[in-house]
Amino acid sequence: MTYAPEVRERLERDAKEIIGRYPKSRSALLPLLHLVQSEDGYVSDDGQEFCAEMLGLTKAEVVGVSTFYTMYKRKPAGQYHVGVCINTLCAVMGGDQIWEELTEHVGVGHDETTADGKISLERLECNAACDFAPVMMVNWEFFDNQTPASAKQLVDDLRDGKDVAPTRGPKKLCTFKEASRVLAGMSDGLAGDGPSAAGPSLEGLRLAKEKGWSKPPREGAE
Ligand code: FES
Repeated sequence: MTYAPEVRERLERDAKEIIGRYPKSRSALLPLLHLVQSEDGYVSDDGQEFCAEMLGLTKAEVVGVSTFYTMYKRKPAGQYHVGVCINTLCAVMGGDQIWEELTEHVGVGHDETTADGKISLERLECNAACDFAPVMMVNWEFFDNQTPASAKQLVDDLRDGKDVAPTRGPKKLCTFKEASRVLAGMSDGLAGDGPSAAGPSLEGLRLAKEKGWSKPPREGAE
């Protein structure tokens, strides 16, 4: 696969904008990998060559990075990439059960995509949202306090094309390619949409206010 001239032109324009944000061009590799993922739905061979060319790197240097991070997909992800946290806390709170029932329901396993290209599944490590365990993510938006039944319903709704809203974040879920473009640093204007901190995350703050607690003075501070 080679990029069509108009696609190549658009990618180059976006890549130059991203590279211009960094003092050294090679620092733009991570966002550029997200950029090609937003075009192809995964980090394609052509995409990696494009990154190497734009940044003056060897393809081996690019591949060394793209194969290290699990957010870069080596084969096409689904339109909706569904992650289930199976790290310790989520696992004991039901994440393992969700994963077991969801994989059977959807018919694909870890890092696999349904034949219609709509859903891919991934076993995720901690999403840093343990206070909402068990947690799932779709295209990196949070779905908190899940159960096997709610997880299966969520995936069915996505496959049926229904509007699905994350528990926190924007009111409408974007596609995997759209999310990749945001991760490349190209704003979709929705960063401030919806609540980010909520419920149990703010419990410590509520308690501190109620008790009149404040942070201890820093040692050595005047
Ligand atoms: S263990 Fe699942 S979010 Fe931390």
